[in-house]
Amino acid sequence: LHYPSCWLLFLVPAGVPVRSGDAAFPKAMDNVTVRQGESATLRCTVDDRVTRVAWLNRSTILYAGNDKWSLDNRVVILSNTKTQYSIKIHNVDVYDEGPYTCSVQTDNHPKTSRVHLIVQVPPQIVNISSDVTVNEGSSVTLMCLAFGRPEPTVTWRHLSGKGLGFASEDEYLEITGITREQSGEYECSAVNDVAVPDVRKVKVTVNYPPFISHAKNTGASVGQKGILQCEASAVPVRGTVLLGGVLMDGLANGLDGVRIENKGRMSTLTFFNVSEKDYGNYTCVATNKLGNTNASIILYGRCRACP
Ligand SMILES: *[C@@H]1O[C@H](CO)[C@@H](O)[C@H](O)[C@H]1NC(C)=O
Ligand SMILES: *[C@@H]1O[C@H](CO)[C@@H](O)[C@H](O)[C@H]1NC(C)=O
Ligand SMILES: *[C@@H]1O[C@H](CO)[C@@H](O)[C@H](O)[C@H]1NC(C)=O
Ligand SMILES: *[C@@H]1O[C@H](CO)[C@@H](O)[C@H](O)[C@H]1NC(C)=O
Ligand SMILES: *[C@@H]1O[C@H](CO)[C@@H](O)[C@H](O)[C@H]1NC(C)=O
Ligand SMILES: *[C@@H]1O[C@H](CO)[C@@H](O)[C@H](O)[C@H]1NC(C)=O
Repeated sequence: LHYPSCWLLFLVPAGVPVRSGDAAFPKAMDNVTVRQGESATLRCTVDDRVTRVAWLNRSTILYAGNDKWSLDNRVVILSNTKTQYSIKIHNVDVYDEGPYTCSVQTDNHPKTSRVHLIVQVPPQIVNISSDVTVNEGSSVTLMCLAFGRPEPTVTWRHLSGKGLGFASEDEYLEITGITREQSGEYECSAVNDVAVPDVRKVKVTVNYPPFISHAKNTGASVGQKGILQCEASAVPVRGTVLLGGVLMDGLANGLDGVRIENKGRMSTLTFFNVSEKDYGNYTCVATNKLGNTNASIILYGRCRACP
């Protein structure tokens, strides 16, 4: 291809804004906004006084007239008529964002008009903290990094929390001196107005030492069934809570006729046939790796016929 030198000269001032008072040509459109992966059409309105036309990406010629200069096969010409000179960019990516210039020559005068291609990207969480287990009182930082164009707003919410407010309006959620009430699921949302928010969850487990929430003295008459119950809670529970570590204070004959059952938080000590010697002071012990606690429960005598 051969281009006369005046052609190249006329391309040099590309990017110079149209001076006010100029003729209406070339007239490029307003800024073009497309989503990543979509196609962008860049249009330039011309008239029959125009002798040469070109579209440039920054200072690189994409098309000059019908001749393609760009090596990018995503760039194609749409129309080159007396009224319009348009190109199309397929499968637009973020690096295509920027100024594009329509450059024309009219009556031997070069003129340019610029349009900004703006590329939008839906919000996407690219890195988020894993589920975490910590001891009560320690500090936790959750991270949620998101990408998108425009840059997404990142917020954290505590799903198990009572308040409806945000736990954090930032990529990082810092919790110092975490309490057991702050355990549960945390949800990170990345929001921009391009597409639906990207939402991910992180589970925070807070270990705490056991406490006994229910232990009540119980009466039982001789020859009847007697039941002592003790409720304890702790995290972690499985394998480490030892409820019904019952001391035999007052139980002279060992554990004959007795059953100890641990179900969830509840520990039950059942006497199938209460006798005088069973009356006394029992201790319920709850243990996990963070500590232990105990409570005493009295099994006391009750007359069979009393109201
Ligand atoms: C526009 O220029 C930028 C920067 O050189 C380049 O990365 C991009 O691929 C170009 N896009 C097109 C459609 O030519
Ligand atoms: C086009 O986009 C550019 C760069 O983002 C901006 O400076 C300019 O104001 C925009 N023009 C219009 C008409 O929106
Ligand atoms: C996520 O961020 C952490 C901490 O900055 C880093 O160690 C890790 O490599 C990142 N993961 C990915 C997939 O980028
Ligand atoms: C309960 O224990 C007493 C005294 O040992 C015995 O006489 C009685 O038969 C027992 N009752 C039952 C239902 O086992
Ligand atoms: C039961 O035993 C515990 C500890 O062994 C003691 O603190 C408590 O006072 C006792 N209760 C009664 C009623 O004796
Ligand atoms: C019960 O708790 C007290 C105070 O923590 C402790 O001194 C005692 O040894 C415990 N008793 C049992 C049987 O674990």
